[in-house]
Amino acid sequence: MTIVCAAAAAVILTGAALTLGQPEAAPASASQPTQEKLIALTFDDGPRRLTTTRLLDGLAERGALATFFLIGKQIPGQEDLILRMGQEGHQVGVHTYNHVLLTGLDPAEVEAELSPCRDLLEELLGPGEYLLRPPYGLTNQALLSQVRAPVVLWSIDPEDWDDRDTAREVEHILEHARDGSIILLHDIFPESVDAALQVVDALQAQGYRFVTVSQLFQARGITLEMGRVYGSAYPQT
Ligand code: NI
Repeated sequence: MTIVCAAAAAVILTGAALTLGQPEAAPASASQPTQEKLIALTFDDGPRRLTTTRLLDGLAERGALATFFLIGKQIPGQEDLILRMGQEGHQVGVHTYNHVLLTGLDPAEVEAELSPCRDLLEELLGPGEYLLRPPYGLTNQALLSQVRAPVVLWSIDPEDWDDRDTAREVEHILEHARDGSIILLHDIFPESVDAALQVVDALQAQGYRFVTVSQLFQARGITLEMGRVYGSAYPQT
């Protein structure tokens, strides 16, 4: 697959991330895990049986959770992978049915890309909040007013689709990782699976815990809202 989430959109999320709501309440005491470093791995463009399975195996061995933004048309025949994601505590979200640029579509076309993917996820995992990651990370106001889901982008993009160089991707992620980061990778590439698992090992050794996107924001007291764009969950200072 040559179509992957382009990096250009990372530029726009810097501002978007600043629009997050304030935490509703201050942490109570030492029992609150607010000092723990949390980080979210996210994977786009799957599922793909061989690579996604190896990733799930590796995450399970490490006790790490992740979030998968799935392409709807790739789900039929691989439903067991989605069920496994749910059973093992991972989060899944919508990455459209056909991996198309949503900002180029009219409202009916947008709905035709979102609903079938969301419906598949609901059939497999039940009703729930299925986050949206638009292909290429591109949104506009018309789109945001139409989507009935929070829109989640990222804060670290090693552009794994470019050279598929595991060592470079690991270095990039470790250089930029901080509490509250959202990392973008693609579980359709073996090199990216290798990179992800190496990153988990390295950051767990630094005291990070890998959580789902929703858990990342929940831990900050942030309620994700429909039609808003989130790129990170850095602690408020
Ligand atoms: Ni994509």
